[in-house]
Amino acid sequence: MSKKIILTGDRPTGKLHIGHYVGSLRRRVELQNSGLYDKIFVFEADAQALTDNIDNPEKVRQNVIEVALDYLAAGLDPSKTTLFIQSQIPELCELSFYFMDMVSVSRLQRNPTVKTEIQMRGFNGESIPVGFFTYPISQAADIAMFKATTVPAGDDQEPMLEQCREIVRRFNNIYGETLVEPNILLPDNAACLRLPGTDGKAKMSKSLGNCIYLSDSADEVNKKVKTMYTDPLHLQVSDPGHLEGNTVFTYLDAFSTDEQVARITGDYATLQEMKDHYTRGGLGDVKCKKLLMEVLQETLEPIRQRRAEYEKDIPAVYEILRKGCEVAREEACKTMDEVRRAMKINYFDDRALIEEQARRFQK
Ligand code: TRP
Repeated sequence: MSKKIILTGDRPTGKLHIGHYVGSLRRRVELQNSGLYDKIFVFEADAQALTDNIDNPEKVRQNVIEVALDYLAAGLDPSKTTLFIQSQIPELCELSFYFMDMVSVSRLQRNPTVKTEIQMRGFNGESIPVGFFTYPISQAADIAMFKATTVPAGDDQEPMLEQCREIVRRFNNIYGETLVEPNILLPDNAACLRLPGTDGKAKMSKSLGNCIYLSDSADEVNKKVKTMYTDPLHLQVSDPGHLEGNTVFTYLDAFSTDEQVARITGDYATLQEMKDHYTRGGLGDVKCKKLLMEVLQETLEPIRQRRAEYEKDIPAVYEILRKGCEVAREEACKTMDEVRRAMKINYFDDRALIEEQARRFQK
């Protein structure tokens, strides 16, 4: 039976927030602990982060350790999951180089994620850095190198996965079955697909100042929840409230279980009961926020504690990453040997080639 391999990662451009947690981290930890996978790789895409931060290398450098701490704090366990850093695996460049021959410029231009990112960053026309424009190719190499079957990621990564499958298919067609076509594993709860910021805006982002970080203290979290966006039409407690776009309820959908709702409120058996009361009128925002604070607290406190433990020995965290890079590199070398053999560029190992050439020239 073929192996089930997970690979996923993040650009280390900032500390991870609770959007990352419900969107991907929590799932990764579950997958890690499910015992259903033969290998799990989680990596920091620092080289990818540099594709549009080339003038700000310090940002990436500082965040490599932050993200590693967030990973470990969230429950990724280095004895089960290989944690590594993209730039330390030079074989990824090599595979990307060959993959570049399998993608056209127009195909890259059609990648919707790259399209929006180019707009967001204000690159126009041909001012786009080549490395940035071609990062989907490098990302395909990240995935194919480790023969990942499963890539847990948000829906924004769907075009990347599609591009990767195309490249792998093309490679296998030309050179014979060598690489593996991956599948994306999307978050299973709609509220988790893209958690809005505390201001109700579509996305949590550092520049908008609307994030709750995994490393925030309990006080910081409570302060942020207090000022959270709810329903602007819900002025009096007795007014009927609206759930649509109400960030407090979106977060409750993403974080709370009915058991927590029942235990913490004492008034409702399920979140749905509480929602019904809110929409009928007679339930104030303060009460809903109180519940959310407690729920977030229960999720974040164990994460905070694990983070504090790892923060006591930062050199040991770098050591975890170094060891992870070693394991990943071994894997990458194996795949590259197969790739070179398939492409018939393994000249010095190819006895048949050398003998054939010898015969040809002796005639
Ligand atoms: N593009 C991803 C992000 O922006 C990071 C990433 C790089 C990635 N290579 C990957 C994710 C391979 C999954 C698989 O977060």
